[in-house]
This record gives sequence, structure tokens and C-alpha cells, in this order.
Amino acid sequence: MANIWLKKNINQLVSEASDNEKGLKRTIGTLGLIALGIGAIIGAGLFTSTAEAIANHTGPAVSISFLIAGTGCALAGLCYAEFASMIPIAGSAYTYAYATMGELIAWIIGWDLVLEYGVASAKVATSWSEYLNKLLGNVFHVQIPYEFSHSPFQYSMEGTRGIINLPAMFIILLLSLVLIRGVKGSSLVNSIIVIIKVGIVLLFIGFGWSYINPDNYTPYIPVNTTNVSGEFGWTGIFAGAGVVFFAFIGFDAVSTAAQESKNPQRDMPKGILLSLLICVVLYILFAHVLAGVANYKEFRTVGQEASITYVIDTYMKGYGWLSTLITIAILAGFSSVILVMLMGQSRVFFSMSKDGLVPNVFSQLHSRFKTPWKSNLLFFIFVGLIAGFVPASIISDMTVIGTLFAFILVCLGIIVLRKTDPAIPRPFRTPWVPVVPILGILVCAGLIYTLGPANWLRLIIWLVIGVFIYIGYGIKNSKLQQDAPSKRL
Ligand code: ALA
Repeated sequence: MANIWLKKNINQLVSEASDNEKGLKRTIGTLGLIALGIGAIIGAGLFTSTAEAIANHTGPAVSISFLIAGTGCALAGLCYAEFASMIPIAGSAYTYAYATMGELIAWIIGWDLVLEYGVASAKVATSWSEYLNKLLGNVFHVQIPYEFSHSPFQYSMEGTRGIINLPAMFIILLLSLVLIRGVKGSSLVNSIIVIIKVGIVLLFIGFGWSYINPDNYTPYIPVNTTNVSGEFGWTGIFAGAGVVFFAFIGFDAVSTAAQESKNPQRDMPKGILLSLLICVVLYILFAHVLAGVANYKEFRTVGQEASITYVIDTYMKGYGWLSTLITIAILAGFSSVILVMLMGQSRVFFSMSKDGLVPNVFSQLHSRFKTPWKSNLLFFIFVGLIAGFVPASIISDMTVIGTLFAFILVCLGIIVLRKTDPAIPRPFRTPWVPVVPILGILVCAGLIYTLGPANWLRLIIWLVIGVFIYIGYGIKNSKLQQDAPSKRL
């Protein structure tokens, strides 16, 4: 019987990382990594989930939810930074788990990361579709019909039912093709988009501040008048944190680019922590302005779709140009998120495939572009179908719960590795271990709790499917198992 707890040797991992001749090209510097982080972080979470959280859970107090979610991410981010500096190879949390908690846990985490990277890009694509329609309406006075820009589970306010979300599928296809073309070009495009994206967030905060109506902040925390936990009141603020958590997802995608980073030991922690910090500050301010300009009840009805454009068009008269500019920038911004997420996804499966846990097709590089192009195409099909046919809120919750679970395992991994391998060089050390990782685990577990039984069940089903695949395929094809017959039980 194979040993499912078999671990990879860290020194071997690091030497594999330095063997860049056969692998991916090293082209990304410090700023490129921070841009990669921000590129993945600011997206649908800020521009669509904020309004959703305000409407259904928090009212004006959404900034507190951002603070709670940001704290959970910062704690996990500190753990990620230690791992990323110590094991700077593509694969992220999957690779870390392989070196610390053994093959089964590594597999579970790699499988779980499909929720974080693959499924997240589907959610962002659905938001892209929303804003595209808003732009087409505002500028060209045409609309993609509701049926063709929504999933079959969604209904318009007039009762029209969606059929397929074509724009969402289109953007996934386009960006999969960009990725196949190569990360160097896409990294440059990403950096430009990030500058625009941060710019419009600052513009909205700056111009929107003077349109805040203080009445909208009263009551700041609306009372929960139903018996449903999570609808306003303090339980609502925690539930809102679970929703806006989506907005922070992505900082860890920086770590999936370790093998394309010029100096990963030095730059990985910087990329992860600085991109996260910048976004926490921007989000809290942005959310505060959004909840102050419009009343929270509007986000339940007319302001639900493309909420930022709605707020500007309705309350910030004379800023029509800003609305159009912001919509274009949001579309570009969402594209950069999808790009980084899809790249992260293919990189994780690249590592898993090199290890024999998923088929070879996921690590075959294109002869000229040196990108895992077949993997990109396969994920286009998977993610495209989700984007086309599943409602955004379900996709978003699945992403959040999968990511929280991955964060918990990463925090746990830091505690384990400090005990099992205390002497390994750690260019970046997580402060106050085990306090920081334990707090990270508690905050992430608390946020999982707020997502409710339906999401817990979805996660469990996903993980069970994963374990079956591991037993049916991974364990038999694992290179580590084959290379270490003496370690078999
Ligand atoms: N954090 C990313 C977003 O909000 C996934 O779109």
C-alpha cells in the first residue's frame, strides 16, 4: 500500500526551482509581482460583492466587514510569505503542503485551489458581463439581451429568464489565448491595467467623498429585524466579511509565479504583503464612500447590477465621463484578475502534473511560447462552462470557502514545518509563530462558519470527489511514490 503521507524533500524542491533551463522563463521583478498581486486582488469582489454585502448583510457598515476579511487575509498572508520565500516554486499552497503535510493533504489543497483560481475567474467573468452591458447601454444604447448575458438560474426584474452568459464565456476564451501567448506579454499588459485600476479606485474615493450623504450612515449598523442570522446587525457584519472576502482573493496568486520571478526569496514576501496592504486601505475607503453616496436599500433593487456605475450615474451628476471611464477601467481590471487567476490555476496544475498527480497534459509546454497551453485550453472549457451556466453568487461563495480552507491549511503548515524542519533557511519568517497562524486559522474558520450549511456541503462534495480522483489516479501515478519504494508502508 502506498504511503499517503509521503513528503517532498524541501532541498530537492528548491533545487528543482533553480533548474530553470527546462522550466518557465524568469522574467518578473518586484514591482511586477506587486502588480500581479494587485492585478488579481482588485476586481469583482470590490466592484460587485461590496454592493451585495451592503444590500443583504451589512448596510453602511461594510467597511468593518472589509477590515475583518482583510485581517484574516493578512494573517494567512504572513504565513504564505514565509512559505513563498522558503519554497519558491510554482504551485503555491499545494507545493507547501507537499513539503510539510504529505501527499494526500497536498492533493486536497491542489484540488481545492481549483475553487480559488479556476472558479474565481468564472465569477469575475460574470461581473465583466454585467459591466459590459452597462457600458454598451450607456455609450452605444444597445444591450446584450438578458437571456444571453445571464445563467439559466437568474431572472430579471421583469421576469425574463437567463439562458447562457455569453460575454462571460467570451472573456475567458480571450484571456486564455493571451496566456497561451506567454506570461511576459501578459505581465506587461497586467501592469498597465493595474495602474488604471488603482487610478479609478482613487478617483471614485476622491470625487465620491463630497457626495456622501450622512443620512445614509444612519443607522450605521441596521438592526436585524428578521430571525435570520447574517441579515444585518453584527451577525450581518461577519456574514458580509465572508462575502467581501472574495475581494481579497488573489494575493496568494503571486506565489504561483515563483518560478517566473527573478529573485523569489526576496520578492515573494514583498509582492504578497504589499499588494495586500495597499488593497486593504483602498477597499475600506472605497466601501465607505459607496455606502455613503447611495442608500443601502437601493443595492437590493435598481442598484444591484454594475453598482458603481449606478451610483455615479444616479448621484454624482456631471460625472457621466467618470462613469464611462470607470466602467471601461473596470472591464480592463476584471480582465487582469481573470488573467492572473487563470495563470495561477494552470501553474498549480503544472506542478501537480510534474508530480504525476494529474495527467501529463497539464505540464506540456508549447514549443515556442513555453506556456502550458493545453492546460490553458482545458481550463477554458471548465471555467467557461461555469461562467456561462452558474449564477455568480454561488460561484463566489464556492471560491470563498475553497480559499478559506486553503488558507487554514497554509497556516497549519507553518506551525508543522517550524517543528519538523526548524533549520531550513527562511528568508522571511512569519512573526509570532504559533500565535499568528493560529489566529489566521480561527478567523478563516469563523468566516467559513458564516457561509452556512449549503456552502459547507458544496465544499465537502468537492473535496470528496477530489479524494476519489486521488485514489483512482493520483496515488498510482505519483512520481514521489514511484521514486521512494523504500518509504512504502
Ligand atoms: N479578488 C478578486 C476579485 O475581487 C478575485 O475579483
